[in-house]
Amino acid sequence: MTGSIEQLRVELGERAYDILIGRGLIGDAGAHIMPLMRRKQAVVVTDEIVAQALVEPLQQSLDAAGIAHHTIVLPPGEGTKDLAHFGRLVDEILACNIERGTMLVALGGGVVGDIAGFAAATLLRGIDFVQLPTTLLAQVDSSVGGKTAINTAAGKNLLGAFYQPRLVLADTGALATLPRRELLAGYAEIVKYGLIADRAFFDWLDGEGETVCALEPAAVSRAVLTSCRMKAEIVAGDERETGDARALLNFGHTFGHALEAETGFGDALLHGEAVALGMVLAFDFAVQLGIASGQDATRVRYHIARIGLPSELRAVGLAGKADRLLAHMGKDKKVRDGRITLILPRQIGDAFVMREASSEDLRAFLAGAA
Ligand SMILES: NC(=O)c1ccc[n+]([C@@H]2O[C@H](COP(=O)([O-])OP(=O)(O)OC[C@H]3O[C@@H](n4cnc5c(N)ncnc54)[C@H](O)[C@@H]3O)[C@@H](O)[C@H]2O)c1
Ligand SMILES: [Zn+2]
Repeated sequence: MTGSIEQLRVELGERAYDILIGRGLIGDAGAHIMPLMRRKQAVVVTDEIVAQALVEPLQQSLDAAGIAHHTIVLPPGEGTKDLAHFGRLVDEILACNIERGTMLVALGGGVVGDIAGFAAATLLRGIDFVQLPTTLLAQVDSSVGGKTAINTAAGKNLLGAFYQPRLVLADTGALATLPRRELLAGYAEIVKYGLIADRAFFDWLDGEGETVCALEPAAVSRAVLTSCRMKAEIVAGDERETGDARALLNFGHTFGHALEAETGFGDALLHGEAVALGMVLAFDFAVQLGIASGQDATRVRYHIARIGLPSELRAVGLAGKADRLLAHMGKDKKVRDGRITLILPRQIGDAFVMREASSEDLRAFLAGAA
């Protein structure tokens, strides 16, 4: 049974698609997917943890819609996004006698969405796929925008494609089983949307953030919808990340990437946790450069901390590591001639791309950051 469902269109010409947001969508997935099917055959890709909680209602809905289906269950975790798993995954999908009209159904977080999306992009030079994101991060970020990728020995997301799904079904009811830490990590990306472009949305989150994180249905739905709408608009204007618009989505991410690299890209600091602290650092650095106000920076730090996300370097054992953090930032692809490209805020709700941040300013800032 589905309650109220929000609908959003990602305007990409002939690649346009809908995002539906609401509780119970997985149990109705068959009915939503059926009109898009060119062939009544689906291959579901999921991971072991997600499969336990969510694969049965999906399979039942596919049965009810008369869609033949086969399910492939991957191990959970970032380690699955590698070439070895990708090779086995495409072999197993091909063994299902797929054709171009076969629908690939990605049920899971960003890991499943990224690897299954890349498989869809490349199998038979492209088969249809739909995203059923089951983490908050996947619902507000990775399932929207058409980026698909796997990791290689040289780094994260280095092998991939821009490939849009035919439909995204964000079942907010699925978040009930998500570990709290994963939920909060996804929440950080929601805060990001408010900080880069929508002050009123941040104001609302500042009042209702706890309600969102308690998964109150209307609040979660509004947070996911507002986030997806903003990402969809940015993506529609800049599908392949050639302009500045899509780069704004990297707010907090250049700092965050350095924090993740220094802590080993693992459980010590989740991506969203690193982004949360990265956004606080971006505000503080902007204050130091005289671009943003201390009042806004304090408000952001306080919000991040109150929600339960890291807001201080020392809390994650990274205070006093300016040189190491800067070295990680230097390896980031956004660096040229000692000048670093950073997304910085002018104020809450207004971020811009700064191409010429000096690494010396940054070193001085990080050395003093607590
Ligand atoms: N394509 C993009 O634009 C984009 C954007 C951001 C991130 N990403 C990628 O997304 C990945 C991270 O995604 P993620 O944070 O969703 O991680 P994830 O897919 O690893 O999911 C996190 C954990 O939660 C579990 N899980 C998922 N849904 C659950 C549920 N409903 N209940 C209980 N457990 C559940 C998973 O099994 C996993 O253990 C990274 O690989 C990152 O590179 C891609
Ligand atoms: Zn992110």
